[in-house]
Amino acid sequence: MTQSPPKTYHVKSFGCQMNVYDGERMGELLAARGMTAADESLDADLVVLNTCHIREKAVDRIYSEIGRMKREDGSRPMIAVAGCVAQAEGAEISRRAKTVDIVVGPQAYHRLPGLIDDAVAGRAAVDTDMPAASKFEILPGRARRTSASAFLTVQEGCDKFCTYCVVPYTRGAEVSRPWNAILDEARALVDAGAKEITLLGQNVNAWTGEDEAGRAQGLDGLVRALDKLPGLARIRYTTSHPNDMTQGLMDAHAEIPSLMPFLHLPVQSGSDRILKAMNRSHSRDSYLRIIERVRAARPDIALSGDFIVGFPGESDAEFKETLSIVAETRYAQCFSFKYSSRPGTPAADMDGQIAPELMDERLQRLQAAINREQLAFNQATIGKRTQILLERKGRQAGQLIGKSPWLQSVVIEAEDVGIGDLVEVDIVSAGPNSLTGAVVAHQRA
Ligand code: SAH
Ligand code: SF4
Ligand code: F3S
Repeated sequence: MTQSPPKTYHVKSFGCQMNVYDGERMGELLAARGMTAADESLDADLVVLNTCHIREKAVDRIYSEIGRMKREDGSRPMIAVAGCVAQAEGAEISRRAKTVDIVVGPQAYHRLPGLIDDAVAGRAAVDTDMPAASKFEILPGRARRTSASAFLTVQEGCDKFCTYCVVPYTRGAEVSRPWNAILDEARALVDAGAKEITLLGQNVNAWTGEDEAGRAQGLDGLVRALDKLPGLARIRYTTSHPNDMTQGLMDAHAEIPSLMPFLHLPVQSGSDRILKAMNRSHSRDSYLRIIERVRAARPDIALSGDFIVGFPGESDAEFKETLSIVAETRYAQCFSFKYSSRPGTPAADMDGQIAPELMDERLQRLQAAINREQLAFNQATIGKRTQILLERKGRQAGQLIGKSPWLQSVVIEAEDVGIGDLVEVDIVSAGPNSLTGAVVAHQRA
């Protein structure tokens, strides 16, 4: 059956920051093709569901989302499933959900226009190739306007093969984008209004490349080059792996004020036996020693982490080691997850899968511990004078929300400043998830 060519599009992203970045690039690609963005999915001729495969729940959500893609008059938009579910399940998706017209993986989305043509002509439109030529060389340039805080993918894929994780399969091998391509894109983002850039990669601190002079560089070299970019006030990067935390990057935190004092360094578990079973290739102790060195370089750095509870075989004593590493590290914020068995990963076949009720209980205990640390970190910033980058409106009229250097959300009330401004504030109060600030008076004059 043929369809009429879509004129409007809506991209909905469900995954990590790299997935959000891909969603932006797909939107820009469709706009370059002359299509216009629609605010709501059901108002669009084409909906791109940019999916995440990391946990079972994320996948379930996609199928219920596909089911909801129906307008009141019974018609539906053209549906493209992109992202990591597309990569993992391929043509199986359109077999399971007949209303899906296009399936496109995260390394093939530059071919979306051709796939739309196929779908319009009623041909099967599935592309989960990982072509040798990078999509980045083919995608159009960045949009002319962007948000104050922008994402820039510098590294893709993962070679670490943690035994629970699908990313090495959905994103492929670790690849670093070239130096010049990154600097060009950063310049374009700053020209489009970005004041802050977050460099993205599944293992962003494993980025390697060569500068203009052909010298070998790591992520710290890239940060130093970006620091010189006029108009770029803040640099961040995520996600890092403990084993790729070089002294050079720690030194960059000590020496470069535009590199924000924040490090997301997932540890996953506090137990050496579990870390080994996870194939994390670092121990509890080596992780804690890295944290010590990072703090020696930048004493006020805010630390963040990811945790998995209920990995196969996790005993109560091993779980308690996770609680104690939270207390020892004094995190500013953390993400914690129940282990989710992913088909095709080694952990899915391990003995000792943990009952859901026990995982729930462990997750609650861990989150209570994390909340205590988070509140303590936030309270310790009360009375500090700092800068926030205003990113969005608050819930109440007149409120604006910005991010502190430590990635805390700070709510202010001010009329003469707006989204995209860097504003000096005094932190006046703190809760577990946000702070309130008072704009420093001299700026108002
Ligand atoms: N590359 C990053 C992030 C990977 S995905 C890293 O190595 O840290 C983000 C987080 O999802 C992981 O850090 C992990 O905590 C969680 N995660 C990944 N696979 C999972 C699974 N099968 N079950 C539960 N949580 C998982
Ligand atoms: Fe997944 Fe481990 Fe790679 Fe992170 S380092 S993406 S958790 S395999
Ligand atoms: Fe999810 Fe893929 Fe990111 S599985 S976490 S969207 S890399």
